[in-house]
Amino acid sequence: MVLTFRSWFTLIDRHTPWWERAKRAVTLATTQSRLEFHMPAIVLIGAQWGDEGKGKATDLLGEQAQWVVRYQGGNNAGHTVVLPDGQDFALHLIPSGILTPGVTNVIGNGVVVDPGVLLEELAGLEERGVDTSRLLLSADAHLIMPYHVAIDRVTERYLGKKQIGTTGRGIGPCYQDKIARVGVRMQDLLDEKILRQKVEAALDIKNQILVKVYNRRAIDAEEVVDTVLEQAEKFANRISDTKLKINQALERGETVLLEGSQGTLLDVDHGTYPFVTSSNPTSGGASAGSGVGPTKISAVIGILKAYTTRVGAGPFPTELTDEAGENLRKQGGEFGVTTGRSRRTGWFDAVIARYATRVNGITDYFLTKLDVLSGLETIPICVAYDVDGERVEEMPMTQTGVHHAVPVYEEMPGWWEDLSDCRTFEDLPANARAYIERIEELSGARVSAIGVGPGRDQTIVRHTMA
Ligand code: GDP
Ligand code: IMO
Ligand code: MG
Repeated sequence: MVLTFRSWFTLIDRHTPWWERAKRAVTLATTQSRLEFHMPAIVLIGAQWGDEGKGKATDLLGEQAQWVVRYQGGNNAGHTVVLPDGQDFALHLIPSGILTPGVTNVIGNGVVVDPGVLLEELAGLEERGVDTSRLLLSADAHLIMPYHVAIDRVTERYLGKKQIGTTGRGIGPCYQDKIARVGVRMQDLLDEKILRQKVEAALDIKNQILVKVYNRRAIDAEEVVDTVLEQAEKFANRISDTKLKINQALERGETVLLEGSQGTLLDVDHGTYPFVTSSNPTSGGASAGSGVGPTKISAVIGILKAYTTRVGAGPFPTELTDEAGENLRKQGGEFGVTTGRSRRTGWFDAVIARYATRVNGITDYFLTKLDVLSGLETIPICVAYDVDGERVEEMPMTQTGVHHAVPVYEEMPGWWEDLSDCRTFEDLPANARAYIERIEELSGARVSAIGVGPGRDQTIVRHTMA
């Protein structure tokens, strides 16, 4: 909120001489509005179960930002960006801003980094002529070690039918070590002695588990350290005090985009636990995972798919297991970027959108993939759930409630037109506009941008965000 000169004047102690009050009010009003204007950190998050189109949105907004920062997750993410020349890129670990020349990209302290994947992704980008010189790595980011990947895979196998369907990238075990305070961080790569001690200590316990519980081979600490040190030689120059640098950039008046991965319902606190990832993709995680204080965040943009998808196990109230679901999968190309798995598909769920608006403090929605819905006679929107005979409008409090939730649908009339060339809200068929307006009404936040295709230009911007 920006207070005007008049408001400040009335707020200052009335016993102060009027000329002194006026002077102070001018200073406060001008500094505050300068701060508002010059210090925007913007958070971009997934509002559903991931794969909403965050990569495209980040790439688009990246044109207006000087910094793009990933704040959580790791290479479990798969963000697709299609450039105006038609080239498409799948990014897992590196922020989507890497494709915009001039943007400084940061892998923040909240991210978990697999050094091998980092090098592979860098090499892949460089091979295609992308300048990667502006990528910084937080000294506090945790490293995914080979034992994290091994443990992720064996625990999933051990869980059998109860498995979460993780991406098998070692994400959960790495965050476990972080919370247990036995993790290995980027900065440890700068001190071989400390690195060795930490890896040996971690493997002392983990090898017992791998061998005795899971009947696997023990992992050799020496080998892990040698490999990671060799890898680090190629990226150690990027390790940096990113918290300081990002905040200095904000003070200089630069714009910082905090790029979330996964989505609200995969959040370890706010998602469909235990079928979640092990970090906080919600907007609250952006501060912790980047070192940008919440007072510096001016907007939270929720990326929301015009229908719903999910990869992996767990409840999904509007899931379609029939031909309609198969059609959405086909029309929307709903196959995982990271694991290639088929995504589960379902109708738009407004209970989820309302929940996402609330837990993230969403200021604007970027509604993606509206084009995929063309050609349907009617489009159901889930407006509430029936939970054991009771109508509920908000996300059930318990996991059992979510498992029992049966969607209550409202039918919206569909449209037949191809939307991929629409560039203004008015270009859209009346029924598509009504669909968006109903989503706004039900979700409690305005839809400021609409995606009508994977390309950067296939976007309708209705309101300026941030
Ligand atoms: P992310 O993980 O949130 O970045 O999303 P993914 O990249 O995993 O999945 C989104 C997919 O939808 C990608 O293939 C994008 O190219 C594509 N996409 C994004 N926005 C749109 C859109 O508005 N319309 C269509 N048809 N495809 C889109
Ligand atoms: P983006 O950023 C969709 C899912 C996995 C699994 C659960 C836990 O592309 O939206 P993990 O490997 O994180 O321990 O797996 O989370 N998952 C995603 N689903 N999009 C993602 O990322 C995901 N990242 C993890 O399928 O159900
Ligand atoms: Mg994805």
